[in-house]
Amino acid sequence: MEIAIIGGTGLSELSGFSLEESHNIDTPYGGTSSPILAGHLKQTPVCFLARHGNPHRIPPHRINYRANIWALKSLGIKKIVAVNAVGGIAAHMGPAHINIPNQIVDYTYRRNGSFCDDESAMPMHIDFTYPFDECIRNILIAKAEKLQLDFSSDGVYACSEGPRLETAAEINRFEKDGCDLVGMTAMPEAALAREKEITYASICLVVNKAAGKSDSVITMKEIEQALKAGMRSVHALLSEVASDL
Ligand code: HPA
Repeated sequence: MEIAIIGGTGLSELSGFSLEESHNIDTPYGGTSSPILAGHLKQTPVCFLARHGNPHRIPPHRINYRANIWALKSLGIKKIVAVNAVGGIAAHMGPAHINIPNQIVDYTYRRNGSFCDDESAMPMHIDFTYPFDECIRNILIAKAEKLQLDFSSDGVYACSEGPRLETAAEINRFEKDGCDLVGMTAMPEAALAREKEITYASICLVVNKAAGKSDSVITMKEIEQALKAGMRSVHALLSEVASDL
């Protein structure tokens, strides 16, 4: 099994997935967010991991990213497609829009961001110039085009610490830094995957306009509606891409 899908908010179960085995893996870093489910998506063998647990219970800053990536590596996973719910900063990133990001700015500050964490190991200065895998991104983009989804192909992902949403001034700062969307979960997940030599790309689903980018406050109701509207497209995209990865 080479491919894993990591589901985020609104994606705790994969539609069209036939479950064959459930792995509870104990890692040197502790337990994973949820059991890793192995099975098939259409004809393709894939693993699925619910990043926030199933049901959703782990907030973004408390996710054991190291355990999740370590466990996927131990199963032989070589490629990850992650799904991340985000707020839209750029004008075209409205609710239910999908973006396949190509860059990250990491604003998190209290997460365990590396497997290289003691003095006995050689420091692991991974190259992270391009945090997302171009090959997986190109497949996602081609399939999103084919499905005629409301999507854009490049975006700079601001990873904020959370769990609270941002202030309007923080979003202005992210925008000045060149960020197009904001989420709380791509980091350190993407960097840990790179440390383990697992290729990684993300499908970002916009579930709200970022703080200060609309006239109203951000409500959970609005987020839930956008999740419902957009997740159908995410499921369609995942089942189209699996066989091509
Ligand atoms: N900010 C950060 N993370 C998010 C948001 C947001 O507005 N929406 C969904 N995840």
